[in-house]
Amino acid sequence: MQIQFAPRAADAGVLVLPVEKDGLARLNLGGLADGDGKTVLAAARANRFDGDAGAISETFLGQGDAVRRVLLLGLGGGSEEDYERAGGALVAKLLASGVSALTVDFAALTGRPAAKSVARLAAGAAQRAWRYDIYRTKLPDKQKSTLQTIVIAGAPDGAEAAWADYDTITQGMALTRELVTEPANIIYPESFVERVKQSVQGLGLEITVLGEPEMRELGMGALLGVNQGSRREARLLALKWSGAGAGDPELALVGKGVTFDTGGISIKPAAGMEDMKWDMGGAAAVVGTMKALALRKARANVIGVCGLVENMPDGNAQRPGDVVTSMSGQTIEVINTDAEGRLVLCDCLCWVQRTHRPKTIIDLATLTGAIIVALGHDHAGLFSNDDGLADQLLAAGRASGDKLWRMPVNATYDKLLDSQIADMKNVGPRAAGSITAAQFLLRFIDDGVRWAHLDVAGTVWADKPGANFDKGATGFGVRALDRFVRDNVEK
Ligand code: BES
Ligand code: MN
Ligand code: ZN
Repeated sequence: MQIQFAPRAADAGVLVLPVEKDGLARLNLGGLADGDGKTVLAAARANRFDGDAGAISETFLGQGDAVRRVLLLGLGGGSEEDYERAGGALVAKLLASGVSALTVDFAALTGRPAAKSVARLAAGAAQRAWRYDIYRTKLPDKQKSTLQTIVIAGAPDGAEAAWADYDTITQGMALTRELVTEPANIIYPESFVERVKQSVQGLGLEITVLGEPEMRELGMGALLGVNQGSRREARLLALKWSGAGAGDPELALVGKGVTFDTGGISIKPAAGMEDMKWDMGGAAAVVGTMKALALRKARANVIGVCGLVENMPDGNAQRPGDVVTSMSGQTIEVINTDAEGRLVLCDCLCWVQRTHRPKTIIDLATLTGAIIVALGHDHAGLFSNDDGLADQLLAAGRASGDKLWRMPVNATYDKLLDSQIADMKNVGPRAAGSITAAQFLLRFIDDGVRWAHLDVAGTVWADKPGANFDKGATGFGVRALDRFVRDNVEK
């Protein structure tokens, strides 16, 4: 989607007039001929349109043999979220409508909107336009995207610059969504790495890839145990962005990249197992964020790490009861091979602390079904050993639209992981499944390191469209992490 800015709207083409809640009477219709303005307002009343965020009233104005399309677009109460919802709703309506370009004319508002809000509307529109049709060879013409350009007219100063930042986030989210959407016969550990390399080429990210021999040498027995049943080879991918000059990264982002999760020998039921192609959504959010940071040349040093494996049942797969030794030296009794994400993450967490000494670590993982039971699809679970960090992330979540909800960690939950034979088990009892998963990770965090874990199992994939996404991959995490870096890491 091309987003362009213009001082004023052209007098032809599809015109979109933004309207605040109950703002029809204040609408500036100076851009339309007198009778046309009246028709648009009468149509709004007929449509029972009163400016709710994302509501649309469409009017066709006769012009000789042709018609001109004019849309009223509700901005609701005018919060940034409302503007995003409006941008998304506009694109949802017109993406495959035959319309190729439209102009949103902010001169229709009596007051001046905030530059950031206008940019957020553009972001909602651009993000909502993302689709992945490469496997649809028989898509009817009527269902193909037609909308290519949105012109924002009459925007306040600063809107275009604010959009430039959202543009980088939108590009990062597109990478995340692509990786999440691709099936597991196309995206597996090696091809994940290749796809990311292609996508971030020339952006100045320093890329490190560890193969199985290197990981074996480092003692990553937990990560490698998960991949043992797979015909594919595991990988660890690290992307380093040094936007604040030389030195260790202050922040590490760590992502669960299970390119397919059958459950292993503790195999999952068949129904819905296809969803487990997106069990790499944490890793995809990490690389999408790193791309966004590099695109906007963020003044921060950040490393993104992805643990990439495939969890398969096989004659060589690990068994329930196996004991593996992690890179940290701690031993783990693998009670359930389907609790594999934590086994992958613990070695990534250890590796990034030993090699890069970050002060803050945020991991993202589609870790537990239990977080969906607790929070559904509207918030990701946030776990942290540091109240300050948790508050910063909650704020970044609220501001960006990637909403987070804090869950507890403490010694009582931690004890549930004690094992008879090893330092810990990889699962606790059924109760508090998301919390014990977080406690497992916390056992691998060094003293003095601020750590947060985002359980994104309920938020990386959507069964119905949202404000800025169609059903499918949401790109969850990129906006919150980008915002966190902007507000707390950049100088
Ligand atoms: N990838 C799953 C979690 C998941 C479930 C993500 C549903 C998205 C939707 C994870 O590896 C898993 O299987 N977790 C188990 C843990 C259990 C064995 C303790 C779960 O949630 O059932
Ligand atoms: Mn699993
Ligand atoms: Zn999993």
